[in-house]
Amino acid sequence: MSNLTHSPLAIFGGRKVREKPFAGWPVFGAPEEDRLLRALRSGKWGKLHGGEVAEFEHRFAAMHGCKHGIGVVNGTVSLRIALMASGIPAESEVIVPPYTFLATASAVVEANAVPVFADIDLETFNLDPRAVEQAVTPRTRAVIPVHMGGQPADMDRLMAMARRRHLVVIEDAAHAHGASYAGRPAGSLAHLSSFSFQSSKNLTCGEGGIVCTSDDALAEACRSIHNCGRISGGLWYEHHVMSGNYRLGEFQGAVLNAQLDRLPEQAATRDRNGQWLASRLARIPGVYPQRRDPRCTRHSYHLFLFRLDAQVFGAPRRAVLQALEAEGIPVSAGYALPLYQQPLFLNKAFGPYLPGASARLDYRKTHCPNCERICSEQGAWLEQNLLLGSPSDLEDIACAFEKVHAHRGSLASMAA
Ligand SMILES: Cc1ncc(COP(=O)(O)O)c(C=O)c1O
Repeated sequence: MSNLTHSPLAIFGGRKVREKPFAGWPVFGAPEEDRLLRALRSGKWGKLHGGEVAEFEHRFAAMHGCKHGIGVVNGTVSLRIALMASGIPAESEVIVPPYTFLATASAVVEANAVPVFADIDLETFNLDPRAVEQAVTPRTRAVIPVHMGGQPADMDRLMAMARRRHLVVIEDAAHAHGASYAGRPAGSLAHLSSFSFQSSKNLTCGEGGIVCTSDDALAEACRSIHNCGRISGGLWYEHHVMSGNYRLGEFQGAVLNAQLDRLPEQAATRDRNGQWLASRLARIPGVYPQRRDPRCTRHSYHLFLFRLDAQVFGAPRRAVLQALEAEGIPVSAGYALPLYQQPLFLNKAFGPYLPGASARLDYRKTHCPNCERICSEQGAWLEQNLLLGSPSDLEDIACAFEKVHAHRGSLASMAA
């Protein structure tokens, strides 16, 4: 515990634990510049002509245990393409968690299917296979587990159930670049997987995504859908399925190739630091870092998730987070609402999608108690770049938590 613990909280005018900013994101340098300039000067700026995206697709898929990778414009489109390639019938049901970014569920609507929400486990923040089992109906065709924060979901149980019920499973691995489960890479644990390369992600090119699979037929379907319905061997103006141009560009491919060289070392650092921080923060009463599943062999820590139990800690979540911010630790309360409580779902504002199913849907009846508790009372996270820091950066984070806990009495009367 640092000497600063004796200073009043920074939120009340005391000395901050941390004055310096943390490591910035993205991390880039000469390799990104060289690749970008080479792509620029080649004059081949599109995926159909250049070699950057093709090289990246091959390397990324191989690193994530898959035979095929199809680079696309973002991680929302990649989910939608994975669903369309799976042949999900119109207005069938796809089970998703409610504690995730919008895209996990909105991509289902954009594939003209019905998102059905199943609760998460309070301790791992990941889809609870028992809740999935209960959510299955004769209309269910697919499940999309999210590897929340970068910890793989309970894929053993989810895949066993999917086999019994003939369901397609698509990993939403937007947080899970370089993660692994029982030694197998995230992205190779289901029929298809989807990754995002949006600015905040552990591997980024600003905007981008990829679908991965080892199934030749699914890969061929994804390739066709992301390329205007063309088929290999077909004519240029020959279009076979409803689709569009969702191809990733060469400049993105160039940046991703350079970023991919950095990933193994960054991933090892995040996992090491994340585990260190989790064991240190777990000593503070009322702070519960995301429980690590013993089968998680690499947590990619896109987010360092934790719960704050206000009763046990002795101060309201909002006050604790404000106090941590004031100490110089950027922290978020995470998703404020389960997805089914978003106006989009409450109002069924689905545009042209789900014309038939919409009438029978009522998301006001959906309740996922663990997710609701996490959103409204307990959830919080730190972002991945904090875990790329030095031991002294990590020490500052831990000290700030310990200081705020030591002074919890002064926060107890602040609004929850
Ligand atoms: C879990 C999850 N799935 C999907 C996406 C969508 O990715 P993109 O923003 O690249 O469309 C995100 C992005 O934040 C995400 O966090």
